[in-house]
Amino acid sequence: MCGIIGYLGYREAYPILINGLKKLEYRGYDSSGIAIFYKNGFFLCKTKGRVSELEKKIFSYKIKIKGTIGIGHTRWATHGIPDDINAHPHVSNSNELIMIHNGIIENYHKIKIFLLKNGFTFVSKTDTEVLVNLIEYIKKKNKLSLEESVRISLNEIVGAYSIAIVEKSNPETIIIAKLGSPLALGINEKEFFIASDPISFINYTNNTLYLKDGEMAILKKNKELDLRKIINNHKLNPIIKKLKINLKEIEKGEYKYFMLKEIYEQPKTILDTLRGRLLIPKGIICIDGIESNKDIFINAKSITILACGTSWHSGLIGEYLLEKLTRIPVEVEYASEFRYKNPILEKKDIIIVISQSGETADTLAALKLAKKKGAFVFGICNVVGSSIARNVDAGVYTHAGPEIGVASTKAFTAQIIILVLIALKIGKYRFTINNNFYQSFCKELGSISEKVNNTLKVYNSIKIIAKKYFNVNNFLYLGRGINFPVALEGALKLKEISYIHAEGYPAAEMKHGPIALIDENMPVVIIATKKGCYEKIIGNIQEIKARKGKIIAIVNEGDIQINTLADFTIKVPYIIEELSPLITVIPLQLLAYQIACIRGENVDQPRNLAKSVTVE
Ligand code: AGP
Ligand code: GLU
Repeated sequence: MCGIIGYLGYREAYPILINGLKKLEYRGYDSSGIAIFYKNGFFLCKTKGRVSELEKKIFSYKIKIKGTIGIGHTRWATHGIPDDINAHPHVSNSNELIMIHNGIIENYHKIKIFLLKNGFTFVSKTDTEVLVNLIEYIKKKNKLSLEESVRISLNEIVGAYSIAIVEKSNPETIIIAKLGSPLALGINEKEFFIASDPISFINYTNNTLYLKDGEMAILKKNKELDLRKIINNHKLNPIIKKLKINLKEIEKGEYKYFMLKEIYEQPKTILDTLRGRLLIPKGIICIDGIESNKDIFINAKSITILACGTSWHSGLIGEYLLEKLTRIPVEVEYASEFRYKNPILEKKDIIIVISQSGETADTLAALKLAKKKGAFVFGICNVVGSSIARNVDAGVYTHAGPEIGVASTKAFTAQIIILVLIALKIGKYRFTINNNFYQSFCKELGSISEKVNNTLKVYNSIKIIAKKYFNVNNFLYLGRGINFPVALEGALKLKEISYIHAEGYPAAEMKHGPIALIDENMPVVIIATKKGCYEKIIGNIQEIKARKGKIIAIVNEGDIQINTLADFTIKVPYIIEELSPLITVIPLQLLAYQIACIRGENVDQPRNLAKSVTVE
């Protein structure tokens, strides 16, 4: 995935594009580029590396680019290595057309061969360069306008895209189009802002139009927006909404990294997720999407949860909660696997999709497949108005606010809160939990934010552990029951941002293989809070100690038994087992963060990753 941006209006485009690209860097940051209409041509500059490198390169030219129309791109490579040539924008053979693209053109190879036969040449390895030249080919051959050539070309494309394209000889027009990848348009009088994510233009306007799949827009200076359907050129009525984003939420403030800010936001985001959904004094849970589909959930035979990465881990926690509280069998599948296995689904089978971004291509495709097969799809998303949110039959937002650090933290705890509420609500409908249990559970939920806040105080004790182990090559994470997915999540966090190999395992499964890895160099993080097979976990700790492994145990305050066994203990507040992942994940997030910092890694923009994976 990439971040795309554009501006057409009366202000200077350069700062809008550069600052906007910086806000989009969470989407990709291996190379970047801009094209601005300036002195009767397009000033084009692209470079490998982050947007700051692009800025430096442009600065070194010592020119002031004064144009008011331009496009820009920050890349996460899919086709061709990250370098200056493969960076966007891409220019057509005649130098007439300049384009940026987020997505993948799946049939690019076939088109490339066709274009090569027709005399076209290519400088980059990207699929994007193929598309911009296809547009040029169609335009020249049929003597068409740019908009019509774009439209016809896009009807030939298989894959996903959001694009913005400009033409040298007609610079006051930008054409944008979308299928699969997100694209938002900010609209003020006499100006248009184009972006993969409106956070990059929200300080100029909140009048936002999200393009839908299969839509294109023709943006002309001082003209009204012209929105059309790509397939048949039918004119559409633009629906412009006022977007609410709190600017503070997308700034780092006093924190060094967004990830740390987001970890520390969790006491608040948990309250935001609960707000309006849990009325504690009466123990009422309000979730519209469940209430209005009550019968579907009451009569459910099974539930399948689909997600990727961290959201898949919260899905595993959801499995535990839903099975325990509702007695409905639950399966959790990787969205990427589900879509290719010809899944057995019957009409009204329940699918729950979980996604922070709401744009993950695998999850979106799995959702669409499930809907096609007649399933009822319920979504849990963080990003309001995202593709997944728009495609589900019903759903609920996590309201964790924008998550910018690539490593997901606050979205994970928000997803768990939603899963808890859903499980309680359905359990109550199905009479699989009694009223006392339900009421006391709701009360516990009322204390969770404060307990997470208290857990954050482990920061300094974790620093000591991070300093000791930041240089090892491997880590093992163990947990049992509802805390097994937390072990997976802890390992993922460490891998993602510190590049240390880490594996998560159910503690008891260790003896079936991973125990062979344990020696005096292997730190083992073990979640050993009360309940959840506490005694068995002590047994597992003994097994590790007997093989000289180093034990870092997450225990409850007041625990004395494990204190004597572990090399390090991290003490966290006690909470009922069903809610314990919300507490136990906090030290694991902090441990990964601190190790990555000591190793000097860029925590918010780890190598090879991007915030949302909008390609297969
Ligand atoms: C989490 O730290 C990851 N960066 C990644 O695994 C992420 O959770 C996954 O790509 C799913 O994203 P989504 O929740 O936006 O769908
Ligand atoms: N496929 C294009 C490239 O590799 C765009 C990448 C993307 O959106 O992830 O440059």
